[in-house]
Amino acid sequence: MVPQTFFLLAAAMLGKGETTGDKVSRQAPTGAQAWAAAHSQAAAALARMSQQDKINMVTGVGWDKGPCVGNTAPINSINYPQICLQDGPLGIRFGTGTTAFTPGIQAASTWDVDLIRQRGAYLGAEAKGCGVHILLGPVAGALGKIPHGGRNWEGFGSDPYLAGIAMKETIEGIQSAGVQANAKHYIANEQELNRETMSSNMDDRTQHELYLWPFADAVHANVASVMCSYNKLNGTWACENDKALNQILKKELGFQGYVLSDWNAQHSTALSANSGLDLTMPGSDFNGRNILWGPQLNSAVNAGQVQRSRLDDMCKRILAGWYLLRQNQGYPSINIRANVQGNHKENVRAVARDGIVLLKNDGILPLSKPKKIAVVGSHSVNNPQGINACVDKGCNVGTLGMGWGSGSVNYPYLISPYDALRTRAQADGTQVSLHNNDNTNGVSNAVSGADAVVVVITADSGEGYITVEGHVGDRNNLDPWHNGNQLVQAAAQANKNVIVVVHSVGQITLETILNTNGVRAIVWAGLPGQENGNALVDVLYGLVSPSGKLPYTIGKREADYGTAVIRGDDNFREGLFVDYRHFDNAKIEPRYEFGFGLSYTNFTFSDIKVTSTVKAGPATGPTIPGGPADLWEDVATVTAVITNSGAVEGAEVAQLYIGLPSSAPASPPKQLRGFSKLKLAPGASGTATFNLRRRDLSYWDTRLQNWVVPSGNFVVSVGASSRDIRLTGTITA
Ligand code: BGC
Repeated sequence: MVPQTFFLLAAAMLGKGETTGDKVSRQAPTGAQAWAAAHSQAAAALARMSQQDKINMVTGVGWDKGPCVGNTAPINSINYPQICLQDGPLGIRFGTGTTAFTPGIQAASTWDVDLIRQRGAYLGAEAKGCGVHILLGPVAGALGKIPHGGRNWEGFGSDPYLAGIAMKETIEGIQSAGVQANAKHYIANEQELNRETMSSNMDDRTQHELYLWPFADAVHANVASVMCSYNKLNGTWACENDKALNQILKKELGFQGYVLSDWNAQHSTALSANSGLDLTMPGSDFNGRNILWGPQLNSAVNAGQVQRSRLDDMCKRILAGWYLLRQNQGYPSINIRANVQGNHKENVRAVARDGIVLLKNDGILPLSKPKKIAVVGSHSVNNPQGINACVDKGCNVGTLGMGWGSGSVNYPYLISPYDALRTRAQADGTQVSLHNNDNTNGVSNAVSGADAVVVVITADSGEGYITVEGHVGDRNNLDPWHNGNQLVQAAAQANKNVIVVVHSVGQITLETILNTNGVRAIVWAGLPGQENGNALVDVLYGLVSPSGKLPYTIGKREADYGTAVIRGDDNFREGLFVDYRHFDNAKIEPRYEFGFGLSYTNFTFSDIKVTSTVKAGPATGPTIPGGPADLWEDVATVTAVITNSGAVEGAEVAQLYIGLPSSAPASPPKQLRGFSKLKLAPGASGTATFNLRRRDLSYWDTRLQNWVVPSGNFVVSVGASSRDIRLTGTITA
């Protein structure tokens, strides 16, 4: 299907109003009505189901017993098919005709809601084409409070507002294709070490304002399902946590869909059922044993340990997700190996390219018909063993486009930096030399006489069931892998035109590289998926100006982040102060702050205007998906004029940060509450409009157990990063 068709379909399906061109208008979805209709269909179907049918609906068939990573048995009495749940957040795991999309972290670093939404829609289209009913993504936890965290790259960076917007756009995109999305991992699974034994202990306010926040966006976007995580929250397993599942997710956030367990994250029969778990996955442990529902749940229901109404509620929620996405009206049969790529590589290239963050440039970039370039490093070429040689990407060999684990996919093809640079060089008549390993010997020969030396370095991480070079999922440190610093130094010793390209799952410490004379540019190319080299060449040669912005802070040293992988339980002592909230609060100078990124042009900011109707006090609205309805209403608008004052076209991400009035409890000095990406021709101006919802001006009041707008003056800061503030204003409540 072409994108236009499914955008239109989607709009019709969820009843959310007009389409403009090929984009769905972003007016608030009428979620409550769509869910009510789905629930009444579900109730009708439920009446035709036996107790055994119900048990089957909520219990996976067991590990490795079906075509997908998760499967449930068909229920013939209601024509409910065998259901396929498949990873993951960047494509169809184990697919052979599917796209290797950009990881979440790259999508976040574009700050481009249209690209993020299109990525979601294409993910959904591929899932549907493969007959996948429930796609296991997107990821809002890990939020990335620990830079070493193995799975941070699957999600959207360490700011809850940015992650929340990305969750919404991705979920609406996926579900626009008729696929049930899954917001995972709920909640506070911030590291791989001991993820299946540890407890994440945190205070109520931190939970609400940081870790719950993007899940509230997911619920507000009508996500069909939520995956509870492996860890404990405040001493109780996330998948049998009455407070997290029943009280917060279902009651406070008004979640109408179902909770499914992470794979083998269930620990009890009746307790998990009564605490709010609705679907157990995969239905057994990884040895086919430890079956906690199925016959066990049947006995628990018969013994009155689990009420029949609870079992009915589980089924209604699962069925409602199925009806909400109209999967009852015909669905492709399950075939993970279908060829469904369409034109989706265009989104991969665009996200990979527009997510590139230019950190340093003394004028060497963009390149213009250089006479000779040198390409340096084992990570500039494809893995000689094959692009999919390592199971679940459990190695860091060759060019890096994604981390490892269940959130990885097969590449259909992979364009390495060297491939793309060579193609471009041929067109320009440029001579290219290659040093395709990380040995510092021989570098000087390869780089001699080059006008530009592209050194590619990496850092990788992933899920803890695979250990790569001593990293058990989480990274052991924030240094580049494979001699990266020494390789850059060796190149710079021999040639003063070094451009460092970083492919990384997250922050690395850049001090050695920045102290190396001859390093003229640093291009933070992130994790680009299958279009790796093409996206890089687009930026290096100035086909586009770089326009990505960091979705996390890069510190000068590891200790500056104030968080680390913890042995035992994590008490989240840093509270609200993670990433830039911490650097700002502790007055630590970062190397490159959250929201930072250079361009080939310049932007000026002017003419800030603030209008507001906000009134201090608690939220009072009825509960809709996402929480009290009034939390989601716009209460203030800020506009600013952005002008491209340079010589080439470019795009600026204008960012809005809020400082709460002094009547609020101690809070981070600045918190992101709006952004707008404007593409501007040289000399052109555009207006960045930031609509602030009530929630954007609220803090979580632990005594009232509600969101409260504090009285007084809010500082409104608009700028080009979290520390490059160009305009300020005030909102008074
Ligand atoms: C991961 C999930 C994934 C599941 C199924 C688990 O180990 O934490 O993210 O969806 O496996 O593969």
